[in-house]
Amino acid sequence: MGAKNELKNPTDFGERSFPAALVLVTNACNLDCSHCFVYRDDNPNSPRDKMDDANMLHQLRQLRDKHGIKSMLFMGGEPMIRKDLVFEAMELFEQCSIVTNGTYGIPSVPGHLVTVSLDGPEEPNDAIRGEGVFQKVKDAIHDRELGDGTSVMLQMVLTRQNEAHLEDFVEQVKDWPVTGLAFTFYVPTRNDESPLFWRDLKERDRVVERLMALKRKHPNLIKSNIETLEMMMSDICMESIGENGEKCLLRNVLPLYMGDEGSFERTFCCYGNDVDCERCGAYMVFNQAHHLAQGDLGHLPISGGSI
Ligand SMILES: C[S@@+](CC[C@H](N)C(=O)[O-])C[C@H]1O[C@@H](n2cnc3c(N)ncnc32)[C@H](O)[C@@H]1O
Ligand code: SF4
Ligand code: SF4
Repeated sequence: MGAKNELKNPTDFGERSFPAALVLVTNACNLDCSHCFVYRDDNPNSPRDKMDDANMLHQLRQLRDKHGIKSMLFMGGEPMIRKDLVFEAMELFEQCSIVTNGTYGIPSVPGHLVTVSLDGPEEPNDAIRGEGVFQKVKDAIHDRELGDGTSVMLQMVLTRQNEAHLEDFVEQVKDWPVTGLAFTFYVPTRNDESPLFWRDLKERDRVVERLMALKRKHPNLIKSNIETLEMMMSDICMESIGENGEKCLLRNVLPLYMGDEGSFERTFCCYGNDVDCERCGAYMVFNQAHHLAQGDLGHLPISGGSI
């Protein structure tokens, strides 16, 4: 290993262009959510494998120039553990967003999007995200400086464990000072037999339909769109995915995981290495397919700011 401030060139990810990327600025996190894909066995995720700020900025700049990265999603672990670094790195890209668990407060990033994760009303959320987290995030959302130009979205990941609380969640947060609500569905591993996934995709369809009904009731608050949700239904979802993800447009996003000795590693997709594409519930996969079907080829992946 070199001296602390020696700048290292980034890993070689080939020559292709990636208009969009995401970066795990840290593998550290203060929570331990039951559904989290980051800490699965097959992913580079040791919290010790940190890259110092100078190296991270240097490598992000080089990767930006090599691959033409325009949009960057900052996540982790918990990205606000390195918030000064995130703010500095945001200067490097045209379009930035942050996904955070909200427990360190809501960052003020005028002109950018912050997605704050909450997985249901207080009790079910705290069963997934930890005791006291819902109240902490609620306080942070209400304490933030309104009108600072930051778009703030709440994002709920729907699993079999929390789906019963979907309508109640919307009722509880509908008057909070946020730009809107985003929903996505659980992405399982290949041999995932946890209670987080439904018995089959048809069972998930019923939840997708309930989300569509909520969208009709709250068209401005809920950002998910009906056409995209229709593409998630079990009879046609494979058209957007392909058996091993070969049609998945989210694979055009460069995932920068933090690997050994402070270098970035690229995983199979944004959700890591061990993923079951056939049961993937990532809203962005279907939203990208929807944009493509509309002929909107210029739409940047993950510009919605969430995965
Ligand atoms: C991995 S977290 C990192 C950022 C931050 N720590 C947070 O919780 O928002 C990014 C987002 O991925 C979601 N997520 C985690 N595991 C997931 C899974 N297996 N399927 C779908 N989404 C998942 C989280 O709920 C969160 O909204
Ligand atoms: S807060 Fe985010 S990174 Fe941390 S365990 Fe939960 S989902 Fe994973
Ligand atoms: S798990 Fe989902 S996002 Fe990842 S490659 Fe498969 S379909 Fe795409």
